[in-house]
Amino acid sequence: AENHRESLMIVSSFAAQFFQRSMWDTDEGKSIGLSYFRERAFTPEVMRKFELGYSPDQWEAFTGEAIKSGYQEQYLEETGLSVKRDNGTLYDRYRGRVMFPIHSFTGRVIAFGGRTLKSDKNVPKYVNSPESEIYHKSNVLYGLYFAKRSIREQDNCYLVEGYADVLSVHQAGIENVVASSGTSLTVEQIRLIGRLTQNITILYDGDAAGIKASLRGLDLILEEGLNVKVVLFPDGDDPDSYVRKVGASAFKQYIEHNKKDFIPYKTSILLKDAGSDPLRRAEVIREVVESIARIPDSIKASVFIRECSHQMQIEERVLLTELNKMRLARS
Ligand code: UTP
Ligand code: MN
Ligand code: MN
Ligand code: MN
Ligand code: MN
Repeated sequence: AENHRESLMIVSSFAAQFFQRSMWDTDEGKSIGLSYFRERAFTPEVMRKFELGYSPDQWEAFTGEAIKSGYQEQYLEETGLSVKRDNGTLYDRYRGRVMFPIHSFTGRVIAFGGRTLKSDKNVPKYVNSPESEIYHKSNVLYGLYFAKRSIREQDNCYLVEGYADVLSVHQAGIENVVASSGTSLTVEQIRLIGRLTQNITILYDGDAAGIKASLRGLDLILEEGLNVKVVLFPDGDDPDSYVRKVGASAFKQYIEHNKKDFIPYKTSILLKDAGSDPLRRAEVIREVVESIARIPDSIKASVFIRECSHQMQIEERVLLTELNKMRLARS
């Protein structure tokens, strides 16, 4: 089984090299892939470090090269780099896309995300590797290998949504950044971070729908006993677009000035939503206390109870009663 995994990682590493050569050393790659990344203002250093590449816009460029180099079809298919046709022949999964290799905790290439360069709505923006023996999506955070040292040093991990966010924030000198890659955070991912720090700062895309949808997921972080802070970007911006707009130092200042503890942040969003409707405000109180009830450290929980009682203008005693009920219900 170890040999098998090793073979899949060797094929993946070969692919990362192939996509890099295709980007840096071919006319198509330079004029399409490299110029795309240049337009997004990624530096060559960051492009090399993260092993960014380009997949030629052909059906068998990668597959043909891999087979010629002696890689077995079985591994090409299992990694998802190649896809089998009905007639049994293989073709490239990634064609005409810029390539983001995904690295394991120890820096091996285990999967890819490929971004389209078309603005056609019918084409998926990102194509990602399927699950395989070396790639379990729910156990992986994009960029963690390049972030782990800085996460320990800074005792904090910035969590962003996308590949480009990781690259831009990293390039701005903030290296303790990882992405959940668009999916909601899993317990496994939180535990990976938890081995390095107890502090997570969420850097959201600034769109209302995404924010509300993710409130639930963040409760998982509380449950794991980690501290969560949240930074919201102006509407329409994500960390990548924002740091490009304002530059590294204004970006850092923005984070420092706008980071909020998750609980008061959630409270304010829900309260704003509820307006003055008493029933909906009661629902907000329950919802927030439910989040607080997930915090294993009871001292921390009581600090948030106090803060929320001010924020919601409700007696602390009432919140504590509610908290204790929920604690009992949960245990
Ligand atoms: P976004 O749509 O916010 O993309 O999705 P982005 O990262 O800002 O990409 P750019 O700036 O347009 O290049 C966030 C993340 O969700 C995943 C990717 O990991 C992406 O980085 N995603 C998104 C997919 O896997 N597939 C998709 O079709 C879209
Ligand atoms: Mn096996
Ligand atoms: Mn988004
Ligand atoms: Mn973006
Ligand atoms: Mn985005």
